[in-house]
Amino acid sequence: MANDKRPASLKRITNKTLAKKFIAEQVAALKEQIGDKKVLLALSGGVDSSVTAALLIKAIGKNLVCVHVNHGFLRKGEPEEVVRVFRQEMGAKLVYVNASSRFLKKVANVSDPEKKRKIIGGEFIEVFAEQAKKQKGIEFLAQGTIYPDILESKGIKAHHNVGGLPASMKFKLVEPIKFLYKDEVRVVGKELGLPDSMVYRQPFPGPGLAVRCVGVITKARLEAVRESDAILREEFKNAGLEGKVWQYFTVVPDFKSTGITNGKRTFDWPVIIRAVNTKDAVTATCAELKFSLMQKLVQRITTEVKGVNRVLWDMTPKPSGTIEWE
Ligand code: XMP
Repeated sequence: MANDKRPASLKRITNKTLAKKFIAEQVAALKEQIGDKKVLLALSGGVDSSVTAALLIKAIGKNLVCVHVNHGFLRKGEPEEVVRVFRQEMGAKLVYVNASSRFLKKVANVSDPEKKRKIIGGEFIEVFAEQAKKQKGIEFLAQGTIYPDILESKGIKAHHNVGGLPASMKFKLVEPIKFLYKDEVRVVGKELGLPDSMVYRQPFPGPGLAVRCVGVITKARLEAVRESDAILREEFKNAGLEGKVWQYFTVVPDFKSTGITNGKRTFDWPVIIRAVNTKDAVTATCAELKFSLMQKLVQRITTEVKGVNRVLWDMTPKPSGTIEWE
């Protein structure tokens, strides 16, 4: 990657004024770089790709083609929100591809986490490349690369997000936020009018809920992950913890235990709750929560999520446990 050192002239973006200045400069630079050509962007709905999209929409409008691939492992309501925000509120040209059943078939019977990741990553590129072929006259590919991605890809830590493009996709790259740190991306996103749910979104792995449905993925267990995650996020939001706890999610392992509901014996899955704080995801600690919130989560998840009769709390710091279970 040429030109990958943050320019000394770029002041740390900490407020509205600096964000406005960055946006004006970037929009002008993007107009100059792209002209009347077309740009393609894989829009996940994460803060980096969303801010990249919003900048490009400001610069080139409908000449940006966003592709939102739903691989079936997204959180509850997520694809709907991406489509609504970008089509309706931002006026973007957005192609929505629901490839859920295709991805599920690909990972059927796969239990190894790294194999799962490889298959999902590979399939994602295939789906995206198919969409790219369908679009006429694309010259540029936009990516939401940020500065830590560049720094980390040079170091020893293999970063999940620097995957690279298939060699067959011959596009010129557009990376408007590649010199920004995450906190700066958020300030810029807020100024661009993106909703808080996107700007302050917790990190979410590319393979999504697939790595939280431990072992071989089944539809029923995947739904248990999705439903319990939705309850967890709702309760964290109600408790004012959104954006305060670094990452929180649920995991459903592939074993069952005995329980009792309405006087009847059950044999169902447990849901594992993981809530952690960290600065850089290299080390992490278990987030300390109110006992009443923990109790409410146990009560809601065991009564509302199908096939679940028990809730476990993962208090393990990183190390020894990674943040994700797979
Ligand atoms: P671990 O589990 O390694 O996670 O402690 C550190 C951070 O990285 C996220 N993560 C991923 N992100 N693709 C991603 O884009 C992945 O395959 C992946 N695996 C883990 C994890 O959610 C945490 O924020």
